[in-house]
Amino acid sequence: MLYFNGNSLGALPKTAATDIGRVVQEEWGGGLVESWLDADWFFLARKAGDAIAPLIGASAGEVVCADSTSVNLFKLAVSLLRQSKDRRTVVTERGNFPTDVYILEGLVQLFGERFDLVVAEPETIVGAIDGDTALVLLTHVNFRTGAAHDLAAITAHCNAHGVPVIWDLSHSAGAVPLALNDWGVEYAVGCTYKFLNGGPGAPAYIYVAQHVIATHEPVVTGWFSHANQFGFEDRYRPTDGIEKCLVGTPPILSLRAVMHGIACFDGLEMSDVAQKSWALSELLIDLADDRLAHHRFTVASPREPEERGSQVSFRHPEAYAVSKALRAAGVVADFRSPDILRFGITPLYMRHVDIWDAVDALAGIMAGESWVAHRTETPDAVT
Ligand SMILES: Cc1ncc(COP(=O)(O)O)c(C=O)c1O
Repeated sequence: MLYFNGNSLGALPKTAATDIGRVVQEEWGGGLVESWLDADWFFLARKAGDAIAPLIGASAGEVVCADSTSVNLFKLAVSLLRQSKDRRTVVTERGNFPTDVYILEGLVQLFGERFDLVVAEPETIVGAIDGDTALVLLTHVNFRTGAAHDLAAITAHCNAHGVPVIWDLSHSAGAVPLALNDWGVEYAVGCTYKFLNGGPGAPAYIYVAQHVIATHEPVVTGWFSHANQFGFEDRYRPTDGIEKCLVGTPPILSLRAVMHGIACFDGLEMSDVAQKSWALSELLIDLADDRLAHHRFTVASPREPEERGSQVSFRHPEAYAVSKALRAAGVVADFRSPDILRFGITPLYMRHVDIWDAVDALAGIMAGESWVAHRTETPDAVT
């Protein structure tokens, strides 16, 4: 299989399957409850966060692994909106990943319409952010087109206006170099099951910069964020550190898989990973220009490598039918409504020859009629 969906669900790290088996047999089966301490389960959410930190340009103690990206967005956004005094707008972008916008819509209702949701065009985002903005929520790399925002410049603009900004890094971490600390980013979330290879349903991560952790007020005040968790006190007191972003008992099996996903990056510089991503993507775009353009494929991703994440998307009026024919030919690239055929580029396990073979398969399909049979099918719920 030629797998171009590592930006949706990353591949299984070889070490994960054997270790998860061992965790189940020995730590759960043998150690039982003792393993919370003996096998370090208790500290795993923080350990995974510390392991993710260097991949996003953060420091140890600024990241924990917990909950889903959607829930982490909710946690951060409520906390920040609660602190907002008289600012009225919440800014996001058209074409953002739906869950991000849905969460904000829910929050506007939760706060009794105190805030107005502004869904700006991506290229006009900066103009939509001003002294009346209570919160900005943006996704760094767009899930459809792979277009990347200038994260550092937008963050600097927000910081200059005293506007809190949350970045969704789901399509960035493990895909492009990030320097959250250097760029002045204070809040971010992202998932671990894409480029970080953490496995299906793996817990997401949440980043709060060191200099704002002390003033950050958790809103889902569960016992894993208590200052004295095993004191079982009657009343809530938040802990001081990044653990204040935790809520309840973490999913240990999934967290162990996340550790293996992140370990795939051991000894690698993200700049080298990005160089290979660019080389593979350039090859894909060049070959598509040569062999697919006359079959009505247009490049939907930015052509400048530094303006996109680690994916190349094409528009085609029959993208769904073509994606199904490609799958039948052993090339997994996905369809995103309405007309996008999306190739995730995962430099850790993708070769140049894979790009060549995928384009060759696609050109072969377009030269024939096999894809036409898929025209009448309804898009799968999960593709
Ligand atoms: C940008 C972005 N945010 C969030 C999510 C999903 O969030 P969750 O982990 O809550 O399902 C995705 C999933 O593809 C995504 O692409």
